[in-house]
Amino acid sequence: MFQAPRGTQDILPEEQPYWRYVEGVAKDIARLYGFGGIETPVFEEAGLFVRSVGAGTDIVEKEMYTFTDLGGGEMTLRPEGTASVCRAYIEHGMASLPQPVKLYYLAPIFRYERPQAGRFREHHQFGCEAIGDADPSVDAEVIDMAWHFFKTLGLKNLKLQINSIGCPECRPTHLAALREYFQTLPLCTDCGVRLKKNTLRLLDCKNPACRSQVGSAPRSVDHLCTGCSAHFAALQTHLKQLGLPFNIDAGLVRGLDYYTRTVFEIQPEQEGGQSTIGGGGRYDGLIEQIGGKPTPGVGFATGIERIILNLKRQNVPVPPLPQPKVFLAWVGEEARTRAIHLASSLRRGGIGTVSAFSPRSLKSQLRLANTQNCTYAVIIGEDEAARGVVTLRDMQAASQEEITPEELVARLSRS
Ligand code: HAM
Repeated sequence: MFQAPRGTQDILPEEQPYWRYVEGVAKDIARLYGFGGIETPVFEEAGLFVRSVGAGTDIVEKEMYTFTDLGGGEMTLRPEGTASVCRAYIEHGMASLPQPVKLYYLAPIFRYERPQAGRFREHHQFGCEAIGDADPSVDAEVIDMAWHFFKTLGLKNLKLQINSIGCPECRPTHLAALREYFQTLPLCTDCGVRLKKNTLRLLDCKNPACRSQVGSAPRSVDHLCTGCSAHFAALQTHLKQLGLPFNIDAGLVRGLDYYTRTVFEIQPEQEGGQSTIGGGGRYDGLIEQIGGKPTPGVGFATGIERIILNLKRQNVPVPPLPQPKVFLAWVGEEARTRAIHLASSLRRGGIGTVSAFSPRSLKSQLRLANTQNCTYAVIIGEDEAARGVVTLRDMQAASQEEITPEELVARLSRS
């Protein structure tokens, strides 16, 4: 027996209302904030992610689905969306458009992680990127959009954590302080390597022993240069003006190397970073790192599976999807032919219609109409077929009347 690969899931019809709801709200929010849609390939050259997400990150070191294609190219199923959007920004000369260029995506993402509740090997993100403007008000708008998105969905009890991790000018002093702090402490093997190669990643090690030492580690906010300090202060002023309730979490660094200055996460109030439903930040060096001109950017992404998990936990009702309006029940060969024609006319009139294919008793067909929540059953028995009429039954009122097929199509198209 084949099964869906570990860490992936089939999204069955009963789950579809959640998915369509979240995607619908995402598209509405993107429109409200002026973000246009972008779709990029599911796979990219592996080097794109190595250069942007960073060679020392867990994502690149342990979690990428990388394969050699038949032409010998090394390809990776995208483990995040930002690098692809930035690649597209450069490739399509978007620097010549009014800046910032604001783009959103709804896309499957692949990471070879250890599956658990809310953690998958294939998950789906709603993400947005504002590329080409370094002003802190852009960061504030992106954070406001993320917050507004979760609130519009109906999620409650969320907390917004922000931090600034500085820029290439001030980060070296912070990294030096981190090295000094960590080098005397017992570290896991991975952190031994991080200490030499990618010091900031010491702060997001998942090993419990290492984690316990992170709380007292030197903080980036204490090492910011004047420019980064002013940017962070301005961001906080904007967030206050927008009425967003944020906390500064000086330990927040996020697991991707491309961030500069602002980083933020939105988490369910009772839980920690493991259950983060959305996060993002500024990446002013990323476009240059992957071959473009120096261009600032800021964005965020959220996992749809985690949103749905929280919608269910918080019992948030989601709108049902439209069901077929009509169940067409027929008995006898003549009625079957008429039913096929009538179904076709109803559908061409925009009225959702389903019917039985193989012969069944009228009773079992009406039962089906009930389970499928159809508003009407239209019955063509042998007698109706002979007289060229149909019986229209209102399933809820349990009332019925005889009507011609032409009248039926006209009446239901109007309702
Ligand atoms: P990220 O924090 O790695 O950021 O992922 C964004 C969101 O995707 C997370 O907050 C979480 O909700 C969801 N997520 C991540 N991994 C999984 C998983 N294995 N299973 C289920 N959900 C998951 C990024 O990917 C950045 N590209 C965000 C960004 C956009 N930064 C700037 N622009």
